[in-house]
Amino acid sequence: MAPYKIAVIPGDGTGPEVVAEGIKVVKHVAEKCHFQCEFDYFKNGGDHYKATGEILSDDTINKLSTYDAIYLGAIGHPDVQPGILEKGILLKLRFELDQYINLRPVKLYEGVETPIKNKGPEEIDFVVVRENTEGLYAGAGGNLKKGTPDEVAVQESINTRKGVERCIRYAFEFCQKRNKEKKLTLCGKTNVLTYAFDLWERTFYEVAKDYPDIKTDYAHVDAICMWMVKNPEWFDVIVTDNMFGDIITDLAAMIQGGMGIAAGGNIHPQGVSMFEPIGGSAPKYTGKQMINPIAAISAAQLMLDTLGQNDAAQMIESAVMNVIKNDLKDLAAGKMGYTTSEVGDLVVNTINAAV
Ligand code: IPM
Ligand code: MN
Repeated sequence: MAPYKIAVIPGDGTGPEVVAEGIKVVKHVAEKCHFQCEFDYFKNGGDHYKATGEILSDDTINKLSTYDAIYLGAIGHPDVQPGILEKGILLKLRFELDQYINLRPVKLYEGVETPIKNKGPEEIDFVVVRENTEGLYAGAGGNLKKGTPDEVAVQESINTRKGVERCIRYAFEFCQKRNKEKKLTLCGKTNVLTYAFDLWERTFYEVAKDYPDIKTDYAHVDAICMWMVKNPEWFDVIVTDNMFGDIITDLAAMIQGGMGIAAGGNIHPQGVSMFEPIGGSAPKYTGKQMINPIAAISAAQLMLDTLGQNDAAQMIESAVMNVIKNDLKDLAAGKMGYTTSEVGDLVVNTINAAV
């Protein structure tokens, strides 16, 4: 089989350190499972922007679109005005490569402390399917009379039937394949956003007819925040729009143990997908080997799973669970009891011990 071509964007801050551990683990399971990966590195990020003026050129996007997957560290630089790199690299890639799903698994592993009292791994295990190319993120709107007392700012949420339907369909398919409770919850705000979420709700129940074995449920986004803390066991798969998905997945990340562990995939089911730890570039820790690479390693796991290397992905998850349960003192930066690269080694050694 031809090697998988993986484009790597280590990015800013601690991105390169955690990405190095993810790649270490991928190379290792590839050998075990008899497939190959070729990694090409792209320099995009804050330093590259400051040195060359390039944020993300069309040429780079064209090149990236020829890969099997993209593996991203983190974007965000203290000397670059907020928004420039996030919009210019991360959001641009999501949009240009039409990665219309943002898939965020939320799973509390054994041995991880959750801030939620009396809840454990049994109760916290669900997946958020976030629409990733539309909504408030589409950039529609504008301003008038900027800087004057009469200033007007409009930011519109764009929801297309096509965009909403493909996201909802993906969520139903995913829920079916996941084969747990077979329950899909639509997260919206039908009582206030009566145009956008009317479209979402109608589409949801229409598509549901094609999946009679999946239970459907609806909750407003504010209620979802409440239930996620009070009864996280109610959720199996949640589908929602871009903005609500952004917000609820930060809350979800905290109940699964924080940014040291949360990973996500920006997925185009028939195209080039991009995988990333959800946490930021944590510039103050740069080069200190203090950041937990588990989120980046789990992002690599999601990448291999999406590429169809399910055994390899399973090996990574088992090893990660083992290391978290038996070795790491804590998931937070600097509190793991090991350096970033030692945690990567622990995962590799655990995979060896298991096979
Ligand atoms: C995320 C991030 C991004 C988003 C930012 C960095 C633009 O918060 O991936 O959730 O809002 O989507
Ligand atoms: Mn976010």
